[in-house]
Amino acid sequence: MKFFVDTADIKEIRELHDLGLVDGVTTNPSLILKSGGNITDVTKEICSIVEGPVSAEVVATEYGQMIKEAEVLAKIADNICIKVPLTLDGLKACRTIRTSMNRLVNVTLCFSANQALLAAKAGATFISPFVGRIDDTGSDGMELIAEIRQIYDNYDFPTEILTASVRTVNHVKQAALIGADVVTAPPATLKALVSHPLTDKGLAQFLADWAKTGQKIA
Ligand code: G3P
Repeated sequence: MKFFVDTADIKEIRELHDLGLVDGVTTNPSLILKSGGNITDVTKEICSIVEGPVSAEVVATEYGQMIKEAEVLAKIADNICIKVPLTLDGLKACRTIRTSMNRLVNVTLCFSANQALLAAKAGATFISPFVGRIDDTGSDGMELIAEIRQIYDNYDFPTEILTASVRTVNHVKQAALIGADVVTAPPATLKALVSHPLTDKGLAQFLADWAKTGQKIA
């Protein structure tokens, strides 16, 4: 399973990259706003740190303008993955960006299995179902991941399931159990994967006993 980090915070990306935990990055207009930087500058810097796909989102809603924006974003770096919304114009842009521009596409804001089916048929590289936002409505976001997994496997669609709007470590575990290809999570959630109280307790005990031996390893 690939780990993408869902942020435009350079410091966080650098830290997770140094830990070997970043296979890619996802950004969106809200995350660019949060970063306080200019989309081109911020995205270029992220691409200089991370070798894997870095999703940068178009903000146009009409096909022709989406393609113009995609061309600008694609020039930022070779590992830019163009993010388009799950609309008819977005799906049309997805097909063009994949076939004529030969670039990676992440189709975002997916909330149903049929939407994911359309994205796969449009040749999307990644589909981004937003599990946390589905949970917010009282439904189970992970059910959608399982449905998409089944549909993509039924027809051997190569589109990768990029579990997004991840809020908890349990989302990561469930996505992995279902067989999602990628999870994109905020830095704090990725770092929280390591935590277990029994690890902390066990380590404290080992260190206390070791101190009593009076020995040194190095
Ligand atoms: O990956 C999509 C993400 O940025 C949205 O997350 O928590 O705003 O639903 P959230």
